[in-house]
Amino acid sequence: MKTVLSAIQPTGDMHLGNYFGAVQNWVRLQEEYKCYYGVVDYHAMTMPYDVKKLRTNTWDLITNLVAVGVKPENLFVQSLVPEHTELGWIFNCFCSYGQLTRMTQFKDKSNQVNDTTKESFISVGLLDYPVLQTADILIYKADYVPVGKDQEQHLELARDIAHRFNTQVGKEYFVLPEPLYTDTPKIRSTADPAKKMSKSAGEKHYINVFADEATVRRQIKSAVTDSGDTPVGTMAEGVQNLFELIKASGWRKEYDELMVQHHDGTLKYIDLKQVTADALVQLTSGFIAKKQEINADKRALKDQIKQSSSEIRKRAQQTLKEVKELIGLLNV
Ligand code: AMP
Ligand code: TRP
Repeated sequence: MKTVLSAIQPTGDMHLGNYFGAVQNWVRLQEEYKCYYGVVDYHAMTMPYDVKKLRTNTWDLITNLVAVGVKPENLFVQSLVPEHTELGWIFNCFCSYGQLTRMTQFKDKSNQVNDTTKESFISVGLLDYPVLQTADILIYKADYVPVGKDQEQHLELARDIAHRFNTQVGKEYFVLPEPLYTDTPKIRSTADPAKKMSKSAGEKHYINVFADEATVRRQIKSAVTDSGDTPVGTMAEGVQNLFELIKASGWRKEYDELMVQHHDGTLKYIDLKQVTADALVQLTSGFIAKKQEINADKRALKDQIKQSSSEIRKRAQQTLKEVKELIGLLNV
């Protein structure tokens, strides 16, 4: 069985864009691969952050991931597997400074620091973060990494570091990981379909995966559909987005029927919205119920995650032991 690794930073709520664009895929991959999924708290420290919120965000994300179907035994918290940072240091010595300064995400995020905070504090962690990400991936000898296009460059770096390491030790030790691009939908903001659904644009631009029924229905009801200037024969972005949400929720039959109506020119947006809201409410009500169940016994989840992190850590420790042997560190 091939190995898959992915990771997500503990920042704030999970919205339908995150779910349909990434997490739903994680859930599916569990059927076919040996999966390691990390909640990467060390990565969340690379941008200015609130120390009072990090731990809560970490537990919230874990709860949310389990509530939508990620198996707890596949989940680990990065700081509970300290070998990631240890291997990260080693990889620092197999990665050039120039390569890190060329990372587009570093350029984007360091600009963001300047724009959004008064002091322009750009941490070494922000520059170095792709090296830690490399350690996250290689420590489990992952064959595949499901990522969005924005992470392509970081994955290329992971392959470079693996290659440099292998060359230096004279052995094909690390697997060169491949990106796994699956066909995941891009979800747009229902309030402004020109934007992607995201937290940074503000509250009306995203739908929380655990939003109550009334909120979901209200947000879909007020969704922007067609401003009237859409060229004949094309579908307005807002309308496309509602279709996308229906399809991603697994309502294929309804999707097909509505699409036929669209082609016939008989589609009523009120019907499209009704079906979208019904599909989403069915999905989210299942998630809400699961989340309540988890929250009723928080201790159980904590114990599970402690246990899974320590199981997964054994795999990481094995890699680190072999690495130390290969590169001339004491291994007593
Ligand atoms: P973020 O928290 O924005 O870094 O996103 C975490 C994950 O969710 C990434 O893998 C993104 O590709 C995915 N994601 C975020 N927003 C959307 C969206 N509107 N549509 C599809 N995928 C998204
Ligand atoms: N850098 C990724 C992001 O910002 C998160 C991440 C950290 C990651 N380590 C990883 C993704 C390892 C894939 C594999 O979304």
